[in-house]
Amino acid sequence: MNQYVTGAVIKEHREKNKMTQLQLAEKLGVSDKTISKWETGKGYPDITLLEPIAEAFRISVTELISGNAIHNENVSANMLRSKFYVCPICGNVIHSMGEAAIHCHGILLSPLEAEATDEHHMIFIESIEDEYFVRIDHSMTKEHYISFVAAVSSGDIQMVKLYPEGSAEARFKIRGVRRIFFYCNRDGLFSIDPVKGIDDKESGYDDSQERRELERAAEMLFG
Ligand SMILES: [Fe+2]
Repeated sequence: MNQYVTGAVIKEHREKNKMTQLQLAEKLGVSDKTISKWETGKGYPDITLLEPIAEAFRISVTELISGNAIHNENVSANMLRSKFYVCPICGNVIHSMGEAAIHCHGILLSPLEAEATDEHHMIFIESIEDEYFVRIDHSMTKEHYISFVAAVSSGDIQMVKLYPEGSAEARFKIRGVRRIFFYCNRDGLFSIDPVKGIDDKESGYDDSQERRELERAAEMLFG
């Protein structure tokens, strides 16, 4: 933990819970003047009050301290709300069905925001029978590489770990896949709808030597 609860967070949660300063004060056994002091940054609540404060707001102490409230409504209903967390120190990848307060190496990780693919992170998706064959046009050096690709449907997730010096390719069962994610260790998370995405050989693929070799290999493998 590298921070402490702030007055702004206390005020925000108090107002969200429709509590007056006096009502919160009574719950905690302090005066309303004390609450006002915290909220205006003139003092901090004693550490022994963190749990009672979190309880009063019906959140966890971690949420209180980090200032990140976790809102999950009916999480189990849909895998498409999946969040990915990556530890910047060790590269650990954590998948969660909703928001969570996740620590790795002492760092509170934030859920990754997926961006649209760009010219440095182009994805090529072919459907071959019941599978998506996915290739990402990107370097795979130790310093800069794609570390995982995931295909998410409303009911499941397929995740493939990639390694430096390997190839930036993965295959997924098509069954209901609505979103494909991939993570670049330097540039972050990208995502694309595989149906609306680059799926058109003629306009999407560059006709390079490498591409032609890949297509030949795919033809030999998949017929
Ligand atoms: Fe990158």
